[in-house]
Amino acid sequence: MYKYIIIILSLSLNLIACGTVNSDKKEAIVQEEFIEDPHSYSNISEIRTEHLDLELDVNFDNKTIYGVARHKMSASPNVQKAVFDIKALDIQKVTLSDGKGKEVPANFSIGPEDELMGQPLTVDLKKGYRQVNIYYQTTELTEAIDWLPASLTSSGKFPFMYTQGQAILTRSWIPLQDSPGNRITYSADVKVPEGLMAVMSASNPTAVSADGRYHYDMKQRIPAYLIAIAVGELVYTPLGNNCGTYSEPSLAKACAYEFADLPKMITAAEELYGEYLWDRYDLVVLPYSFPFGGMENPRLTFANPTVIAGDRSSVSVIAHELAHSWSGNLVTNATWNDFWLNEGFTVYFENRIMEKIYGPEVAEILRVIEYQELQPTLDYIEESDHPEDSRLKLQLEKRNPDDAMNEVAYIKGAFFLRTIEEKVGRAKFDTFLKQYFADYKFKSLSTEGFLAYLNEHLFKPNKLTFDTEEWIYRPGLPEACIIPHSKRLEQMSFLAEQLQAGEDIFDTELKGVKRTDRTVQEWQSFIRAFKEDVDPKILALVDDHLDFSHSGNRSIMSEWFTLAIQSGYSEVKPETKEHLIKIGRRWLIEGIYRACKDSDNPDDLKWAQSVFNEAKDHYHFVSRSTIEEILF
Ligand code: BES
Ligand code: ZN
Repeated sequence: MYKYIIIILSLSLNLIACGTVNSDKKEAIVQEEFIEDPHSYSNISEIRTEHLDLELDVNFDNKTIYGVARHKMSASPNVQKAVFDIKALDIQKVTLSDGKGKEVPANFSIGPEDELMGQPLTVDLKKGYRQVNIYYQTTELTEAIDWLPASLTSSGKFPFMYTQGQAILTRSWIPLQDSPGNRITYSADVKVPEGLMAVMSASNPTAVSADGRYHYDMKQRIPAYLIAIAVGELVYTPLGNNCGTYSEPSLAKACAYEFADLPKMITAAEELYGEYLWDRYDLVVLPYSFPFGGMENPRLTFANPTVIAGDRSSVSVIAHELAHSWSGNLVTNATWNDFWLNEGFTVYFENRIMEKIYGPEVAEILRVIEYQELQPTLDYIEESDHPEDSRLKLQLEKRNPDDAMNEVAYIKGAFFLRTIEEKVGRAKFDTFLKQYFADYKFKSLSTEGFLAYLNEHLFKPNKLTFDTEEWIYRPGLPEACIIPHSKRLEQMSFLAEQLQAGEDIFDTELKGVKRTDRTVQEWQSFIRAFKEDVDPKILALVDDHLDFSHSGNRSIMSEWFTLAIQSGYSEVKPETKEHLIKIGRRWLIEGIYRACKDSDNPDDLKWAQSVFNEAKDHYHFVSRSTIEEILF
């Protein structure tokens, strides 16, 4: 099960099944490889879903989805069984259909439960029956879904729900082959309470339906982790002819202001790496509990309201999720061990979009901020139980993929590509990347597959030698890495150092300077330059002048409150608690809880545990489980 086998899918699967077989596979420019996925029970090398038809009844009263998942499958000859992934699902029955309207009961068995992977659902197949139908319902233990009472929405009038599939949570709300190595099309018929709007990573409505029924189609092939739904009081605000936002009514205006550059971003991205192939690009702004800044569900990025900072200072998150429409959604990591192929490429691409729209200085500043974040992660990993996690190629067998989804894949990955760019020159690298996305569109790819392609199509023709080995298979950051610099940020770090050394910068360099006179990244550099043992009186002085504790920018507040805990600046505990109770975005709360855990003052951990107990119902499973692991 956990052994890696690479089988080139040159003998493409024959259909026992629906309609068309693509017999032209041999003519494809690149061949799709099949790589066994250590995080899925499914037997996709033998049989795989081509199209999934969902029927979903979303019941807010008992926080349950009642579903039927109809899998239209293709298989190699003589396959006897189809294995699906499930986790915390109640399976009521399984049937087989022959495509002519006949539906018969099927034998199935459910294997032992694994805390991480869930369970294999094995269905016995019958000759001539093309489709497997699984009737099921979600349970209290379903990890993908967040059910929110009306009180946690912005209007407070209607409840809300949404799903988060990446990395291996989709199996907890849909029984399917939950591996990024398989791609499917899907359609869905969904019933929700009247008055609510439901949106999916597919074709979407722009108005509330009278009877609470909606239909969706996703015609492009996508991996299972990108299937997603959100249901609530939503209105649609167009931003351009192919993009717009869904949000609660009270946020619509703020969205229109914050994301006004979205049409420009789409144009910039297309100019860089080729046509946008998903028809529309919309955003849905979810409640504060959403565990990420953004999630790249195709056609419909899911976003946390903290991205609406009021001054467009967090729009790089949107550039990032848009970039995933190529890196991640067109070309998908074959397994979670190849996660950097999704995120490293996306951080690189995000930065190129930001450069095109806001200029090279902004882009360089963003890279410095990233570099500042990579260093402590590399140090932490080196001392941890898994020092090998700072390689780009991961080894996550029997581990939760979430455990290694950190700055290494994102930032070391992006710096790897940046370093190649510097070596071959931007023009050649861009031509290469554009061709890469064209050749691998709608395919999954491993690190090894990418390296072979890189050699063949970039290094060989340009007679270049480049040590990819040290980036991919060795820990830490190679010396060859191009390190970014920004004078503006260095000045801010210097000011913090001066203040700590006893100089009154508020009477000199920062005299009369307001928080809004500098960018978020400048203040981040300022905050990051304080030592953990800084005198709390100095932090109080900073708050007197700049009021970071009430800045409203949650990235600044998160870093400021972390420093406050580390240094014993306890006056801002009430503001910190307000932050932790309101915000569920993991990246904005994890550092604060970790600082409490690591604090020399045992009261900090007790305080954090009691705050968490109050806050935990406001968090999605993803954040809740991470914080629980830190504190308990
Ligand atoms: N795909 C990720 C979020 C994710 C990663 C979910 C791993 C589950 C497992 C998304 O694109 C992302 O990276 N979001 C970041 C945005 C940031 C890097 C600009 C976030 O949420 O902060
Ligand atoms: Zn991402």
